[in-house]
Formats: sequence, C-alpha cells, structure tokens
Amino acid sequence: MDTSLKEPLIVTQGLTRIYNLGTTQVVGIQDIDLEIPSGELVVLKGESGSGKSTFLSLLAGLDHPTAGRLRAAGQNLHQATPDELNRYRREVVGMIFQSFNLLPTLTVVENVCLPALLAGRPYQEAKNQALKWLEWLNLEKRLHHYPTELSGGEMQRAAISRALINEPSIILADEPTGNLDSRNGRIVIELLSELNRSFNRTIIIATHSKLADSFATLQFYLKDGKITETIA
Ligand SMILES: Nc1ncnc2c1ncn2[C@@H]1O[C@H](COP(=O)(O)OP(=O)(O)O)[C@@H](O)[C@H]1O
Ligand SMILES: [Mg+2]
Repeated sequence: MDTSLKEPLIVTQGLTRIYNLGTTQVVGIQDIDLEIPSGELVVLKGESGSGKSTFLSLLAGLDHPTAGRLRAAGQNLHQATPDELNRYRREVVGMIFQSFNLLPTLTVVENVCLPALLAGRPYQEAKNQALKWLEWLNLEKRLHHYPTELSGGEMQRAAISRALINEPSIILADEPTGNLDSRNGRIVIELLSELNRSFNRTIIIATHSKLADSFATLQFYLKDGKITETIA
C-alpha cells in the first residue's frame, strides 16, 4: 500500500482549549495545526504552563476543545459523543502520568488488569495479558505487591503495563520521568522507545526535560499554547 495516501494518525486544525475561570479566560492551547503520522515517537516540549498537559488531555479524549478540529485514529474527537470517547479512551489510547496514578488498594497485577476488566474482557484473558506486559517490563517478581511497596521506577513500569493492557495504538505520557531519578527516567524513556520501534506504537511524550530528545522522531515546541517550532 502507498502509505503517502494514508491519513496521518493524528490531525489537528485550529485546535484550541480556553479555560473559563469566572470572568477571566486562560489559554490552554490555541490554534494548533499539526499532523502526526503513525509510528512516530513525538516529544512535546515547552516550559511549565505552555499547554502540554492540555494538549495531551484532548488527545486522550479526557477533555473537549473549545474550538477547532481533532481527528485521531479515524475519529473526529471534537464531535464525539461521550460513548464514543469512552470507547476511544479504552481501545485507542493508553496514558502514563508523572504521578503514576496506581490505585493504592490494588496489587500490581490487579492495577494492570483493571482497564481490561472495565472494557469487559474476561478475567483470565486480562490476567494473561497483564502477565505478558509485566514480564516484559521486568516486574514478574512484583505481581502481588502494593504500589507503596515499589520503587518509583517500578511504579512507572507498572503504570506502563496498565497503559498497554488494552493494546492501544497511541501511548500518551505526561511528564513520565518527572518523579524519577535520572537513571530510572532514562529506563522509562528507553522502554517507551522500544515500544515505538519493536511494537509499532505511536508515542507522545510531554516533558520539559531533555532526556527524551535523542529518542524523538518528531519534536514540537509549545509556548503560551502555540507551536513555535517543529523538528522532524
Ligand atoms: N483546569 C484548568 N483550569 C484553568 N486553567 C488551566 C487548567 N489547566 C491548565 N490551565 C492553564 O492552561 C495553561 C496551560 O497549562 P498546562 O496544559 O497544564 O501546561 P503544561 O502541561 O505545559 O505545564 C496554563 O496557563 C494553566 O494555568
Ligand atoms: Mg503539564
């Protein structure tokens, strides 16, 4: 197939998110036009407050734009119904956060299984899938531990397993190394890069650190909610 005829995985046109706080308006992102082909490892850079998390939340289907178009994996997210967004969040994207967001009362394997169970998949299938990714992420000795019993690096690897359980084509990582030391931060970025290269996942990492730069196939710089530079 001629891939040049294929629609990019993610396309935004005039994508804007303005937050209304009483009578004041705060720009999250404004007028973003970009295209991200499938298979890229994108690093989204910019200082704190530049709009990185706002952009990732829209891409994750967690938030609605106030203007513009956002098309991802063939779906128009700017006009998607709550049900469609729900399905998109479950099936198309996996998300990783700075604060890991593991549920403290569940073990590692239970945390990882949860999104699959919520998607209605049978327990045994979810568990097998969880074990596959936990093993790949070197956590087979931590299956029945609680998040508080893990190191930061282990917590983030558990969170990556959870993001992968429903086999999403897009993985969004919001400051994934923000709570890690440089060694564990590097391990996390290398794992994301391996997922990109060996498992053909499209990865978007929002970060103000330089750690991911050398792994990027595409870089966008955000300033005050706008893209100021693109490096391909
Ligand atoms: N829920 C919100 N309500 C109001 N303003 C917000 C909200 N989330 C983000 N903002 C504002 O939007 C701008 C971009 O923030 P954000 O997307 O979090 O940037 P970054 O992730 O690059 O630090 C900032 O000015 C921030 O204060
Ligand atoms: Mg942020």
